[in-house]
Amino acid sequence: MEFRTLGRTGLKVSVMGIGTGGPSNFGQSTGVPEKDVIRMVHRAIDLGINFFDTSAAYRESEVILGRALRNVGREKVVLATKFHAAPDSIVISPEEVIASVDRSLKRLDVETIDIMQFHGVDPGDYRRIMDAHMPTVIKLNEQGKFRFLGISETYSRDPRHDMFAMALKDDMFDSAMVGYSMISPTAKKAVLPECLNKNVGVICMVAVRRALSKPDILMQRISDAKKRGLIARDSVPDEDPLGWLLRDHVKSLPSAGYKFAAAHPAIGTVLTGTANIEHLEANVAAILGPPLPSEDMIRLNSVFGEVWEPLGN
Ligand SMILES: NC(=O)c1ccc[n+]([C@@H]2O[C@H](COP(=O)([O-])OP(=O)(O)OC[C@H]3O[C@@H](n4cnc5c(N)ncnc54)[C@H](OP(=O)(O)O)[C@@H]3O)[C@@H](O)[C@H]2O)c1
Repeated sequence: MEFRTLGRTGLKVSVMGIGTGGPSNFGQSTGVPEKDVIRMVHRAIDLGINFFDTSAAYRESEVILGRALRNVGREKVVLATKFHAAPDSIVISPEEVIASVDRSLKRLDVETIDIMQFHGVDPGDYRRIMDAHMPTVIKLNEQGKFRFLGISETYSRDPRHDMFAMALKDDMFDSAMVGYSMISPTAKKAVLPECLNKNVGVICMVAVRRALSKPDILMQRISDAKKRGLIARDSVPDEDPLGWLLRDHVKSLPSAGYKFAAAHPAIGTVLTGTANIEHLEANVAAILGPPLPSEDMIRLNSVFGEVWEPLGN
């Protein structure tokens, strides 16, 4: 495994981390039995993965992760979880924040969480959330309930990364969970340089998601993007639009997607939201293998570099 320092947290994290949300929701949305998900977590640890991301909002993911890690030394893993500070733009009370953090500790069955994140903060809610919750969050940190503070963006509702423009300016966060992929790479301009500048650790989400794991969805997204003039009609083929990436050591689009994300120097860890052990093994092999050829990185940038829309969701 390759380890990177997650910005100012100083935590050494594996370049691939496990995400317990997303389309599979740790197998809960795709019918993977818990025992197989637990087997996958143990395989991830055997492969050297030490970073796990979850949330109070991912159904039973925190509980399943807590069970999977029961006999794994606490010092061997870095645990990140989140709370929704304003579901449906209604800011919750300080008591609800405290209850959510306490519930996460209980469900994960740990004494402290390594990174507590504000979950999917909409740019329009950002200021109200900070005003309402920073004092509570600072108190929880002082009480030792978590070590570092992070924030994640909404991605699909914030294609220009406006929330991070505010959060990085405020400079109160140790980590940033950012949507960044081959076909939605605009964080490269809008977020990642400032993260490097401020030494904020970056956790990459949505590197593959649906568009790069389901060929029909990719074709549809590319066709729509052409119709809307977001990308040039002749920039990529209509059929199998990213098939040209698959050669030599690049075996699949998910492989290409994880390689692409890990290539950016700001990124500490790239989450894989798989609940499938074979996919996990392939994804780890891909991220640890050679990077995408530079000519392919250049072509991807010329096709998608200015598409300020979340094509990759
Ligand atoms: N706002 C937020 O805070 C936010 C939003 C989104 C995500 N997240 C976090 O980021 C994590 C990762 O996000 P994501 O779900 O977008 O992850 P992802 O790794 O980009 O995509 C996961 C999807 O790709 C499929 N996949 C993965 N590897 C594959 C392979 N080798 N072959 C075929 N299909 C493959 C998975 O299906 P299989 O299970 O079949 O492999 C799953 O449907 C989440 O779990 C969550 O922790 C946070």
